[in-house]
Amino acid sequence: MTTKKDIIKQDIRSNIVNGLIIPGQRLPSIRKQSEKYECSLNTIISVYQELEREFLIYSRPKSGYFVVAKEALLPLIDKKRIDFSAAAPDPTSVPQMNLRQCLNKAMELFEASIFTYTDPQGLLSLRQEIVRLFQQQQVFTSEQHLFVFSGAQQALHLLAGMAFPNGKANILVEQPTYWGMLSALKAQNQTVIGIERTPEGIDWAALERHFQSNTIKFFYTIPRFHNPLGTSYTAEEKQRLAELAKAYDVYIVEDDYLADLETNTKEDPIWSYGCASHVIYLRSFSKVMLPGLRLAAATVPHALIPLLRLHKQTADLSTSVLSQGVLEIYIKSGMYDHHAKQMRVLYNQRMNQLRGAVRSLLPLESRYSIECSGGVFAAIHLLDINTRELIQRLASRGVDLFSTEEQFLSHFPKKNLLRLSIMRTSEHDIEEGIGIIAEELEHAKQQANSAPTPFIWV
Ligand SMILES: Cc1ncc(COP(=O)(O)O)c(C=O)c1O
Repeated sequence: MTTKKDIIKQDIRSNIVNGLIIPGQRLPSIRKQSEKYECSLNTIISVYQELEREFLIYSRPKSGYFVVAKEALLPLIDKKRIDFSAAAPDPTSVPQMNLRQCLNKAMELFEASIFTYTDPQGLLSLRQEIVRLFQQQQVFTSEQHLFVFSGAQQALHLLAGMAFPNGKANILVEQPTYWGMLSALKAQNQTVIGIERTPEGIDWAALERHFQSNTIKFFYTIPRFHNPLGTSYTAEEKQRLAELAKAYDVYIVEDDYLADLETNTKEDPIWSYGCASHVIYLRSFSKVMLPGLRLAAATVPHALIPLLRLHKQTADLSTSVLSQGVLEIYIKSGMYDHHAKQMRVLYNQRMNQLRGAVRSLLPLESRYSIECSGGVFAAIHLLDINTRELIQRLASRGVDLFSTEEQFLSHFPKKNLLRLSIMRTSEHDIEEGIGIIAEELEHAKQQANSAPTPFIWV
Protein backbone atom coordinates (compact mmCIF):
# COMPACT_ATOMS: atom_id res chain seq x y z
CA MET A 1 0.00 0.00 0.00
CA THR A 2 1.26 3.48 -0.85
CA THR A 3 1.84 5.43 2.36
CA LYS A 4 1.80 9.19 2.80
CA LYS A 5 5.58 9.04 3.20
CA ASP A 6 5.88 7.33 -0.21
CA ILE A 7 3.77 10.07 -1.84
CA ILE A 8 5.85 12.85 -0.26
CA LYS A 9 9.07 11.16 -1.27
CA GLN A 10 7.83 10.68 -4.84
CA ASP A 11 6.75 14.33 -4.99
CA ILE A 12 10.13 15.66 -3.83
CA ARG A 13 12.00 13.14 -5.95
CA SER A 14 10.12 14.13 -9.10
CA ASN A 15 10.71 17.83 -8.41
CA ILE A 16 14.44 17.07 -8.35
CA VAL A 17 14.44 14.80 -11.39
CA ASN A 18 12.33 17.27 -13.40
CA GLY A 19 14.54 20.21 -12.48
CA LEU A 20 11.92 22.11 -10.44
CA ILE A 21 14.46 21.99 -7.60
CA ILE A 22 17.82 22.45 -9.25
CA PRO A 23 21.23 20.93 -8.40
CA GLY A 24 22.85 22.79 -5.53
CA GLN A 25 19.53 24.25 -4.36
CA ARG A 26 18.67 23.98 -0.67
CA LEU A 27 15.55 21.95 0.04
CA PRO A 28 12.86 23.55 2.21
CA SER A 29 13.44 23.02 5.93
CA ILE A 30 12.00 19.96 7.64
CA ARG A 31 9.54 22.16 9.51
CA LYS A 32 8.31 23.88 6.32
CA GLN A 33 7.90 20.56 4.55
CA SER A 34 5.96 19.08 7.46
CA GLU A 35 3.60 22.07 7.28
CA LYS A 36 3.27 21.81 3.51
CA TYR A 37 2.57 18.08 3.49
CA GLU A 38 0.65 18.16 6.78
CA CYS A 39 2.70 15.38 8.33
CA SER A 40 5.05 14.90 11.25
CA LEU A 41 8.63 16.17 11.33
CA ASN A 42 9.74 12.55 11.60
CA THR A 43 8.09 11.67 8.28
CA ILE A 44 10.06 14.41 6.49
CA ILE A 45 13.29 13.45 8.26
CA SER A 46 12.77 9.89 7.13
CA VAL A 47 12.03 11.00 3.52
CA TYR A 48 15.15 13.19 3.43
CA GLN A 49 17.25 10.36 4.84
CA GLU A 50 15.99 7.97 2.17
CA LEU A 51 16.64 10.51 -0.62
CA GLU A 52 20.12 10.97 0.84
CA ARG A 53 20.71 7.21 0.70
CA GLU A 54 19.67 7.34 -2.97
CA PHE A 55 22.32 10.08 -3.48
CA LEU A 56 19.75 12.57 -4.75
CA ILE A 57 20.39 14.98 -1.87
CA TYR A 58 23.06 15.49 0.75
CA SER A 59 23.09 17.22 4.13
CA ARG A 60 25.39 20.00 5.29
CA PRO A 61 25.66 20.30 9.04
CA LYS A 62 23.62 23.27 10.34
CA SER A 63 22.65 24.29 6.78
CA GLY A 64 20.10 21.71 5.74
CA TYR A 65 19.65 19.43 2.75
CA PHE A 66 20.83 20.22 -0.82
CA VAL A 67 20.30 18.65 -4.24
CA VAL A 68 23.39 16.87 -5.56
CA ALA A 69 25.28 18.20 -8.62
CA LYS A 70 23.80 17.56 -12.06
CA GLU A 71 26.46 15.09 -13.15
CA ALA A 72 25.86 13.01 -10.05
CA LEU A 73 22.12 13.15 -10.71
CA LEU A 74 22.11 11.85 -14.27
CA PRO A 75 22.83 8.17 -13.64
CA LEU A 76 20.20 8.18 -10.90
CA ILE A 77 17.40 9.30 -13.13
CA ASP A 78 15.47 6.16 -14.00
CA LYS A 79 16.70 4.84 -17.31
CA LYS A 80 13.55 4.94 -19.34
CA ARG A 81 12.50 5.44 -22.90
CA ILE A 82 12.68 8.94 -24.30
CA ASP A 83 9.06 9.83 -24.79
CA PHE A 84 8.52 12.48 -27.46
CA SER A 85 5.05 11.05 -28.17
CA ALA A 86 3.01 11.91 -25.07
CA ALA A 87 0.06 14.28 -25.18
CA ALA A 88 -0.65 14.03 -21.44
CA PRO A 89 1.27 15.61 -18.58
CA ASP A 90 4.08 13.83 -16.82
CA PRO A 91 2.55 12.33 -13.63
CA THR A 92 5.53 13.61 -11.70
CA SER A 93 4.80 17.22 -12.69
CA VAL A 94 1.26 17.10 -11.28
CA PRO A 95 0.83 18.23 -7.66
CA GLN A 96 -0.78 15.04 -6.48
CA MET A 97 -0.75 15.96 -2.80
CA ASN A 98 -2.63 19.19 -3.44
CA LEU A 99 -5.16 17.45 -5.63
CA ARG A 100 -5.76 14.81 -2.99
CA GLN A 101 -6.46 17.58 -0.48
CA CYS A 102 -8.88 19.22 -2.94
CA LEU A 103 -10.59 15.90 -3.50
CA ASN A 104 -11.14 15.41 0.24
CA LYS A 105 -12.39 18.97 0.56
CA ALA A 106 -14.71 18.50 -2.44
CA MET A 107 -16.25 15.43 -0.76
CA GLU A 108 -17.07 17.62 2.22
CA LEU A 109 -18.16 20.81 0.46
CA PHE A 110 -20.19 19.24 -2.31
CA GLU A 111 -21.67 16.42 -0.27
CA ALA A 112 -25.24 17.47 -1.09
CA SER A 113 -24.60 17.69 -4.84
CA ILE A 114 -22.76 14.36 -5.02
CA PHE A 115 -25.95 12.58 -4.03
CA THR A 116 -27.97 14.07 -6.83
CA TYR A 117 -27.79 15.17 -10.48
CA THR A 118 -26.76 18.73 -11.16
CA ASP A 119 -27.08 21.38 -13.85
CA PRO A 120 -25.98 20.01 -17.25
CA GLN A 121 -24.09 23.27 -17.86
CA GLY A 122 -21.98 22.66 -14.74
CA LEU A 123 -21.91 23.84 -11.13
CA LEU A 124 -22.81 27.50 -11.00
CA SER A 125 -20.07 28.23 -8.43
CA LEU A 126 -17.45 26.64 -10.73
CA ARG A 127 -18.73 28.50 -13.76
CA GLN A 128 -18.35 31.75 -11.82
CA GLU A 129 -14.71 30.87 -11.16
CA ILE A 130 -14.14 29.97 -14.81
CA VAL A 131 -15.65 33.30 -15.90
CA ARG A 132 -12.83 34.94 -13.91
CA LEU A 133 -10.22 32.53 -15.28
CA PHE A 134 -11.28 33.25 -18.87
CA GLN A 135 -10.88 37.00 -18.23
CA GLN A 136 -7.12 36.45 -18.00
CA GLN A 137 -7.29 35.53 -21.71
CA GLN A 138 -9.47 38.53 -22.59
CA VAL A 139 -12.57 36.34 -22.83
CA PHE A 140 -15.25 38.29 -21.00
CA THR A 141 -18.27 36.07 -20.70
CA SER A 142 -20.93 35.21 -18.13
CA GLU A 143 -21.87 32.01 -16.35
CA GLN A 144 -25.05 31.82 -18.48
CA HIS A 145 -22.89 31.32 -21.58
CA LEU A 146 -20.51 28.88 -19.93
CA PHE A 147 -20.62 25.11 -20.17
CA VAL A 148 -18.51 22.65 -18.23
CA PHE A 149 -17.78 19.54 -20.27
CA SER A 150 -16.38 16.11 -19.45
CA GLY A 151 -13.23 16.98 -21.37
CA ALA A 152 -12.77 19.08 -24.52
CA GLN A 153 -13.29 15.86 -26.44
CA GLN A 154 -16.90 15.72 -25.28
CA ALA A 155 -17.49 19.31 -26.33
CA LEU A 156 -16.06 18.61 -29.79
CA HIS A 157 -18.14 15.47 -30.16
CA LEU A 158 -21.37 17.26 -29.20
CA LEU A 159 -20.70 20.30 -31.39
CA ALA A 160 -19.86 18.05 -34.34
CA GLY A 161 -23.24 16.36 -34.22
CA MET A 162 -25.40 19.37 -33.39
CA ALA A 163 -27.47 21.59 -35.65
CA PHE A 164 -26.25 25.20 -35.72
CA PRO A 165 -28.34 28.37 -36.03
CA ASN A 166 -26.79 29.15 -39.44
CA GLY A 167 -28.56 26.05 -40.82
CA LYS A 168 -25.39 24.87 -42.61
CA ALA A 169 -24.11 21.30 -42.44
CA ASN A 170 -20.41 20.91 -43.34
CA ILE A 171 -17.41 21.21 -41.06
CA LEU A 172 -14.12 22.73 -42.11
CA VAL A 173 -10.95 21.54 -40.35
CA GLU A 174 -7.30 22.44 -40.56
CA GLN A 175 -5.03 19.80 -42.03
CA PRO A 176 -3.41 18.41 -40.03
CA THR A 177 -5.45 18.73 -36.85
CA TYR A 178 -6.21 17.07 -33.51
CA TRP A 179 -6.98 13.40 -34.26
CA GLY A 180 -9.75 13.24 -31.62
CA MET A 181 -11.81 15.79 -33.54
CA LEU A 182 -11.36 13.85 -36.77
CA SER A 183 -12.49 10.64 -35.14
CA ALA A 184 -15.53 12.37 -33.56
CA LEU A 185 -16.51 13.65 -37.00
CA LYS A 186 -15.97 10.27 -38.63
CA ALA A 187 -17.94 8.41 -35.97
CA GLN A 188 -20.88 10.74 -36.59
CA ASN A 189 -20.67 10.56 -40.37
CA GLN A 190 -20.23 14.29 -40.75
CA THR A 191 -19.24 15.86 -44.05
CA VAL A 192 -15.78 17.27 -43.42
CA ILE A 193 -13.64 19.50 -45.61
CA GLY A 194 -9.94 20.01 -44.99
CA ILE A 195 -7.86 23.12 -45.51
CA GLU A 196 -4.09 22.93 -45.33
CA ARG A 197 -2.36 24.62 -42.42
CA THR A 198 1.41 24.92 -42.57
CA PRO A 199 3.84 26.66 -40.22
CA GLU A 200 3.26 29.74 -42.38
CA GLY A 201 -0.49 29.70 -41.79
CA ILE A 202 -3.38 28.93 -44.13
CA ASP A 203 -4.39 29.84 -47.63
CA TRP A 204 -6.73 32.80 -47.02
CA ALA A 205 -8.21 32.79 -50.49
CA ALA A 206 -9.16 29.11 -50.11
CA LEU A 207 -10.57 29.75 -46.64
CA GLU A 208 -12.73 32.59 -47.90
CA ARG A 209 -13.97 30.45 -50.80
CA HIS A 210 -15.06 27.78 -48.32
CA PHE A 211 -16.79 30.35 -46.10
CA GLN A 212 -18.48 31.89 -49.16
CA SER A 213 -19.78 28.50 -50.33
CA ASN A 214 -22.57 28.89 -47.76
CA THR A 215 -22.22 25.29 -46.59
CA ILE A 216 -19.86 25.57 -43.63
CA LYS A 217 -21.48 25.14 -40.23
CA PHE A 218 -18.22 25.74 -38.36
CA PHE A 219 -14.49 25.94 -38.79
CA TYR A 220 -12.57 23.96 -36.17
CA THR A 221 -9.24 25.61 -35.42
CA ILE A 222 -6.43 25.33 -32.89
CA PRO A 223 -5.06 28.87 -33.16
CA ARG A 224 -2.51 28.64 -30.36
CA PHE A 225 0.30 26.05 -30.17
CA HIS A 226 -1.35 23.90 -32.80
CA ASN A 227 -1.48 20.14 -32.40
CA PRO A 228 0.67 18.83 -34.15
CA LEU A 229 2.46 21.83 -35.75
CA GLY A 230 3.18 23.71 -32.53
CA THR A 231 2.62 27.07 -34.25
CA SER A 232 0.16 29.90 -33.54
CA TYR A 233 -1.78 32.38 -35.66
CA THR A 234 -0.67 36.00 -35.53
CA ALA A 235 -2.96 38.73 -34.15
CA GLU A 236 -3.75 39.83 -37.73
CA GLU A 237 -4.72 36.31 -38.72
CA LYS A 238 -7.01 35.94 -35.71
CA GLN A 239 -8.63 39.28 -36.47
CA ARG A 240 -9.15 38.21 -40.08
CA LEU A 241 -10.72 34.92 -39.00
CA ALA A 242 -13.09 36.77 -36.67
CA GLU A 243 -14.12 39.15 -39.48
CA LEU A 244 -14.66 36.37 -42.01
CA ALA A 245 -16.72 34.34 -39.53
CA LYS A 246 -19.09 37.24 -38.99
CA ALA A 247 -19.21 38.27 -42.64
CA TYR A 248 -20.16 34.80 -43.91
CA ASP A 249 -22.14 33.58 -40.86
CA VAL A 250 -19.73 30.70 -40.20
CA TYR A 251 -19.10 29.63 -36.59
CA ILE A 252 -15.60 29.09 -35.26
CA VAL A 253 -14.82 26.38 -32.74
CA GLU A 254 -11.69 27.80 -31.14
CA ASP A 255 -9.82 25.03 -29.33
CA ASP A 256 -7.53 26.94 -26.98
CA TYR A 257 -6.33 23.79 -25.23
CA LEU A 258 -2.96 25.24 -24.20
CA ALA A 259 -3.99 28.79 -23.25
CA ASP A 260 -2.33 28.37 -19.85
CA LEU A 261 1.07 27.99 -21.46
CA GLU A 262 1.04 31.38 -23.17
CA THR A 263 3.92 33.60 -22.10
CA ASN A 264 3.05 36.59 -24.26
CA THR A 265 0.19 38.37 -22.50
CA LYS A 266 -0.66 40.21 -25.72
CA GLU A 267 -1.68 37.00 -27.52
CA ASP A 268 -5.47 37.02 -27.33
CA PRO A 269 -7.89 34.38 -28.64
CA ILE A 270 -10.04 34.84 -31.77
CA TRP A 271 -13.05 35.23 -29.40
CA SER A 272 -11.65 38.54 -28.17
CA TYR A 273 -11.69 40.09 -31.65
CA GLY A 274 -15.30 41.17 -31.34
CA CYS A 275 -17.04 38.07 -32.63
CA ALA A 276 -18.54 36.46 -29.52
CA SER A 277 -21.68 35.83 -31.60
CA HIS A 278 -19.78 33.40 -33.82
CA VAL A 279 -17.09 31.79 -31.67
CA ILE A 280 -17.27 28.81 -29.34
CA TYR A 281 -14.23 29.32 -27.13
CA LEU A 282 -13.07 26.01 -25.63
CA ARG A 283 -10.47 25.27 -22.94
CA SER A 284 -9.32 21.89 -21.68
CA PHE A 285 -8.10 21.33 -18.13
CA SER A 286 -6.20 18.19 -19.11
CA LYS A 287 -2.90 19.65 -20.18
CA VAL A 288 -1.83 21.59 -17.12
CA MET A 289 -3.87 19.52 -14.69
CA LEU A 290 -5.05 15.93 -15.09
CA PRO A 291 -6.67 14.27 -18.10
CA GLY A 292 -8.26 11.94 -15.53
CA LEU A 293 -10.43 14.72 -14.09
CA ARG A 294 -12.12 14.92 -17.53
CA LEU A 295 -12.81 18.63 -17.41
CA ALA A 296 -13.10 21.38 -19.99
CA ALA A 297 -15.12 24.57 -20.30
CA ALA A 298 -16.50 26.60 -23.17
CA THR A 299 -18.30 29.85 -23.64
CA VAL A 300 -20.83 29.67 -26.44
CA PRO A 301 -22.88 32.21 -28.40
CA HIS A 302 -26.33 32.90 -26.99
CA ALA A 303 -28.13 31.25 -29.89
CA LEU A 304 -26.47 27.89 -29.21
CA ILE A 305 -27.27 27.59 -25.51
CA PRO A 306 -30.66 25.77 -25.49
CA LEU A 307 -29.71 23.08 -27.99
CA LEU A 308 -26.26 22.53 -26.52
CA ARG A 309 -27.80 22.14 -23.04
CA LEU A 310 -30.05 19.45 -24.44
CA HIS A 311 -27.18 17.65 -26.17
CA LYS A 312 -25.00 17.83 -23.09
CA GLN A 313 -27.80 16.49 -20.91
CA THR A 314 -28.55 13.60 -23.22
CA ALA A 315 -24.83 12.75 -23.37
CA ASP A 316 -24.16 12.39 -19.63
CA LEU A 317 -26.77 14.34 -17.59
CA SER A 318 -23.87 16.32 -16.15
CA THR A 319 -20.11 16.29 -15.73
CA SER A 320 -18.85 14.60 -12.54
CA VAL A 321 -19.60 16.88 -9.60
CA LEU A 322 -16.59 15.56 -7.74
CA SER A 323 -14.25 16.57 -10.54
CA GLN A 324 -15.93 19.94 -10.84
CA GLY A 325 -15.60 20.42 -7.06
CA VAL A 326 -11.88 19.64 -7.18
CA LEU A 327 -11.34 22.19 -9.94
CA GLU A 328 -13.37 24.84 -8.15
CA ILE A 329 -11.39 24.47 -4.92
CA TYR A 330 -8.15 24.35 -6.88
CA ILE A 331 -8.94 27.60 -8.69
CA LYS A 332 -10.39 29.39 -5.65
CA SER A 333 -7.39 28.58 -3.45
CA GLY A 334 -4.99 30.10 -5.99
CA MET A 335 -3.36 26.71 -6.55
CA TYR A 336 -4.47 26.64 -10.19
CA ASP A 337 -2.73 29.91 -11.05
CA HIS A 338 0.36 28.84 -9.15
CA HIS A 339 0.51 25.44 -10.81
CA ALA A 340 -0.23 26.85 -14.29
CA LYS A 341 2.69 29.25 -13.79
CA GLN A 342 4.99 26.41 -12.79
CA MET A 343 3.95 24.38 -15.85
CA ARG A 344 4.47 27.42 -18.07
CA VAL A 345 8.00 27.81 -16.74
CA LEU A 346 8.73 24.09 -16.96
CA TYR A 347 7.37 23.58 -20.48
CA ASN A 348 8.99 26.77 -21.72
CA GLN A 349 12.35 25.69 -20.41
CA ARG A 350 11.91 22.41 -22.25
CA MET A 351 10.80 24.08 -25.48
CA ASN A 352 13.83 26.40 -25.33
CA GLN A 353 16.03 23.44 -24.75
CA LEU A 354 14.44 21.61 -27.68
CA ARG A 355 15.00 24.64 -29.91
CA GLY A 356 18.66 24.79 -28.81
CA ALA A 357 19.17 21.06 -29.35
CA VAL A 358 17.55 21.18 -32.78
CA ARG A 359 19.74 24.11 -33.82
CA SER A 360 22.95 22.59 -32.61
CA LEU A 361 22.43 18.88 -33.30
CA LEU A 362 20.31 18.64 -36.44
CA PRO A 363 22.19 19.51 -39.62
CA LEU A 364 20.67 21.86 -42.18
CA GLU A 365 18.88 19.66 -44.62
CA SER A 366 16.60 19.73 -47.60
CA ARG A 367 15.11 16.44 -46.53
CA TYR A 368 13.25 17.72 -43.51
CA SER A 369 12.24 20.91 -41.77
CA ILE A 370 11.42 21.39 -38.11
CA GLU A 371 9.20 23.95 -36.45
CA CYS A 372 9.27 24.50 -32.69
CA SER A 373 7.57 27.66 -31.51
CA GLY A 374 6.10 27.13 -28.06
CA GLY A 375 3.50 25.15 -26.17
CA VAL A 376 4.38 21.49 -26.04
CA PHE A 377 4.69 20.30 -29.65
CA ALA A 378 7.18 20.65 -32.48
CA ALA A 379 6.85 19.06 -35.89
CA ILE A 380 9.48 17.57 -38.15
CA HIS A 381 8.47 17.60 -41.78
CA LEU A 382 10.23 14.80 -43.62
CA LEU A 383 10.36 15.57 -47.29
CA ASP A 384 11.59 12.33 -48.77
CA ILE A 385 12.34 10.09 -45.82
CA ASN A 386 10.14 7.11 -45.03
CA THR A 387 8.28 8.11 -41.84
CA ARG A 388 7.32 4.63 -40.69
CA GLU A 389 10.84 3.32 -41.10
CA LEU A 390 12.28 6.26 -39.21
CA ILE A 391 9.78 5.85 -36.35
CA GLN A 392 10.60 2.15 -36.12
CA ARG A 393 14.33 2.77 -36.10
CA LEU A 394 13.93 5.42 -33.40
CA ALA A 395 11.68 3.16 -31.32
CA SER A 396 14.30 0.41 -31.47
CA ARG A 397 16.76 2.94 -30.00
CA GLY A 398 14.39 3.89 -27.15
CA VAL A 399 12.98 7.10 -28.67
CA ASP A 400 9.20 7.29 -29.15
CA LEU A 401 7.65 9.70 -31.65
CA PHE A 402 4.09 10.14 -32.86
CA SER A 403 3.31 9.75 -36.53
CA THR A 404 0.69 12.27 -37.57
CA GLU A 405 -1.07 9.99 -40.04
CA GLU A 406 -4.21 10.00 -37.86
CA GLN A 407 -4.18 13.79 -37.89
CA PHE A 408 -5.15 13.96 -41.55
CA LEU A 409 -8.50 13.23 -43.17
CA SER A 410 -8.35 10.02 -45.17
CA HIS A 411 -9.03 11.89 -48.44
CA PHE A 412 -6.57 14.73 -47.76
CA PRO A 413 -2.97 14.56 -49.12
CA LYS A 414 -0.87 13.62 -46.10
CA LYS A 415 2.43 15.22 -45.19
CA ASN A 416 5.26 13.18 -43.69
CA LEU A 417 5.07 14.84 -40.30
CA LEU A 418 6.47 13.62 -37.03
CA ARG A 419 5.21 15.23 -33.85
CA LEU A 420 7.65 15.82 -31.02
CA SER A 421 6.18 16.45 -27.57
CA ILE A 422 8.18 17.74 -24.60
CA MET A 423 5.47 16.90 -22.05
CA ARG A 424 7.11 13.79 -20.66
CA THR A 425 10.74 14.64 -21.29
CA SER A 426 13.54 16.01 -19.16
CA GLU A 427 16.44 18.28 -20.14
CA HIS A 428 18.58 15.21 -20.40
CA ASP A 429 16.03 13.34 -22.58
CA ILE A 430 15.81 16.25 -25.01
CA GLU A 431 19.55 16.45 -25.64
CA GLU A 432 19.93 12.70 -25.91
CA GLY A 433 16.75 12.21 -27.97
CA ILE A 434 17.54 14.92 -30.52
CA GLY A 435 21.06 13.49 -30.79
CA ILE A 436 19.60 10.08 -31.66
CA ILE A 437 17.14 11.64 -34.13
CA ALA A 438 20.07 13.48 -35.78
CA GLU A 439 21.94 10.19 -36.17
CA GLU A 440 18.91 8.47 -37.66
CA LEU A 441 18.30 11.32 -40.10
CA GLU A 442 21.92 11.06 -41.14
CA HIS A 443 21.47 7.32 -41.58
CA ALA A 444 18.38 7.93 -43.75
CA LYS A 445 20.38 10.41 -45.82
CA GLN A 446 23.13 7.90 -46.45
CA GLN A 447 20.50 5.39 -47.58
CA ALA A 448 19.16 7.79 -50.17
CA ASN A 449 20.95 9.21 -53.20
CA SER A 450 19.41 12.66 -53.39
CA ALA A 451 21.70 15.68 -53.00
CA PRO A 452 20.57 18.11 -50.29
CA THR A 453 19.94 21.83 -50.64
CA PRO A 454 19.82 23.32 -47.16
CA PHE A 455 16.88 24.96 -45.43
CA ILE A 456 15.45 24.78 -41.96
CA TRP A 457 12.66 26.52 -40.04
CA VAL A 458 13.28 26.95 -36.38
C1 LIG B 1 -6.02 20.08 -29.50
C2 LIG B 1 -6.71 19.21 -28.50
N1 LIG B 1 -7.99 19.46 -28.20
C3 LIG B 1 -8.65 18.71 -27.32
C4 LIG B 1 -8.04 17.63 -26.68
C5 LIG B 1 -8.84 16.79 -25.74
O1 LIG B 1 -8.74 17.32 -24.44
P1 LIG B 1 -9.55 16.72 -23.22
O2 LIG B 1 -8.61 15.85 -22.45
O3 LIG B 1 -9.99 17.92 -22.43
O4 LIG B 1 -10.71 15.94 -23.74
C6 LIG B 1 -6.71 17.33 -26.96
C7 LIG B 1 -6.05 16.19 -26.33
O5 LIG B 1 -4.92 15.87 -26.59
C8 LIG B 1 -6.02 18.15 -27.90
O6 LIG B 1 -4.75 17.90 -28.22
